[in-house]
Amino acid sequence: MDWILICLIFITLYAVIKYKNDANGETITGEAKPNWQSEDIREMCQFLEHEVTGQEGDLWAKLRLRGLTIVFRHGERSPLSAIEDDTGCIPYRYVDRKNFIAYKQLAESDGVVNFLKLDPELQQYPRYPLYAKCVRGMLSAEGALQHVRLGKYFRHRYEKTRLFTDENQRIVADVVSSKYNRTVQSALAFSTEFLYKQRALLTPIQIKASNFSYHCIDPSCVCDINKEIRETYEDEFLAEFHKMKSDDVAEEEKRILSFDALSQSFHPFEMIDVALGKYVCRRRPLPCHGNDCLTFDTFNKVINLTTLIGSRMFDERIGVARRLQSMEAYPILSYLKDSIEKIRKFPHSNYIQIFSGHDVTVAPILRTLGVPFVDPPHYTSRIVFEIYEHSDEGLFVRVLYNGHNRSFDVRFCQGENLKYGMCRAKAFEEFVKKGLFELAGVSEFKDFCHN
Ligand SMILES: *[C@@H]1O[C@H](CO)[C@@H](O)[C@H](O)[C@H]1NC(C)=O
Ligand SMILES: *[C@@H]1O[C@H](CO)[C@@H](O)[C@H](O)[C@H]1NC(C)=O
Ligand SMILES: *[C@@H]1O[C@H](CO)[C@@H](O)[C@H](O)[C@H]1NC(C)=O
Ligand SMILES: *[C@@H]1O[C@H](CO)[C@@H](O)[C@H](O)[C@H]1NC(C)=O
Repeated sequence: MDWILICLIFITLYAVIKYKNDANGETITGEAKPNWQSEDIREMCQFLEHEVTGQEGDLWAKLRLRGLTIVFRHGERSPLSAIEDDTGCIPYRYVDRKNFIAYKQLAESDGVVNFLKLDPELQQYPRYPLYAKCVRGMLSAEGALQHVRLGKYFRHRYEKTRLFTDENQRIVADVVSSKYNRTVQSALAFSTEFLYKQRALLTPIQIKASNFSYHCIDPSCVCDINKEIRETYEDEFLAEFHKMKSDDVAEEEKRILSFDALSQSFHPFEMIDVALGKYVCRRRPLPCHGNDCLTFDTFNKVINLTTLIGSRMFDERIGVARRLQSMEAYPILSYLKDSIEKIRKFPHSNYIQIFSGHDVTVAPILRTLGVPFVDPPHYTSRIVFEIYEHSDEGLFVRVLYNGHNRSFDVRFCQGENLKYGMCRAKAFEEFVKKGLFELAGVSEFKDFCHN
């Protein structure tokens, strides 16, 4: 009897200690489990158990909303490096598995297929991702659900604004996606909630294809060597990383490269990509040698440095960083300018534009506007431009990033150009016509496009 009692006490003690360690985000088994509850990981990974929050649409009572331009990054995806895992991308929670199956049925329904049509150039892409399998660069099922959640959030934020409620207004909605499975699927997931569910107010939409990650859909912004220019920028970025890294970061880098799964990730953006897409956001323990484990803090240090380098390279001088990112920001900003002009010209139409892109779509726009951000922008990162009409003073643009209003940070939105906490639309138009080119030391679009 005594022996059994002693054994029981030991088992209980062991369970309590193990539980405590797990709850602290550490384990005693030689694998480092990140603490999924930490604020930065939740934000980075966009876990589905958390609500989307933000300030979008919260001015609706005061001014008349006439237009909305939204740019977002696709949802969670597998890393771009080789990965094959037949079940690793199944949604983590049971409720999300059910939600994904329900979303899949909706996405395939005649209603959605006939309302959200695909440009002929996009028809080869499946409308939703796989349920369980991880494939390099592909959206995960949770990634699609993140955009379902975001679309629902936008619907709730805007359905009561005058964008949708003013009578006798026609609503013109445009959706553009780059030619990738993940961006097409993100565009569909978002639009199903935000647009299809308000279909009584809208006409069917054909999602347009952009040949470029930077969303150019007309001849005026074609640059066929855009990928080469980006490679040059990324090489310079890497050189800067080696120059600027502290001894501490150099040590972490050595540790990161010592693990098989990360041994080919020489660029800090690749390290972050694998860490998030293979481990942290899939809620898997980070790799260890014995008791020496990578932690999320390891990657946080890298992200801190990429954020710093990205802004320095742009701010310090006119070089490839500025030329490339001004070029990449130009098309979407010029479509925003077109929207402003149409709103002025056609008082009975409201305009919605949605661009489904990448971190390299979102980051250059923030960079050129002067809005600070964590680089790379996380999955589903969103920039929102709300175009408001003031009865006496014309049009204003409010700029938000990931739910926070950032109009005050916009470089040309200062002094006279800032009113009611927003930017005069004229200042935006001037920037697209002139300021953006000046920033990069060129006089027109085609000057951006050379090696
Ligand atoms: C898109 O996804 C499908 C199905 O998973 C796959 O067969 C196809 O190769 C993917 N296309 C691209 C361009 O990656
Ligand atoms: C995109 O590329 C395709 C073929 O590569 C071409 O036919 C099409 O005209 C291009 N679209 C635009 C808007 O440049
Ligand atoms: C990253 O930078 C932030 C703000 O500059 C700082 O608070 C944080 O401690 C840094 N994290 C790491 C891991 O260095
Ligand atoms: C933007 O946010 C700031 C501070 O967070 C607030 O003071 C301001 O009123 C907001 N502006 C608008 C237009 O919502």
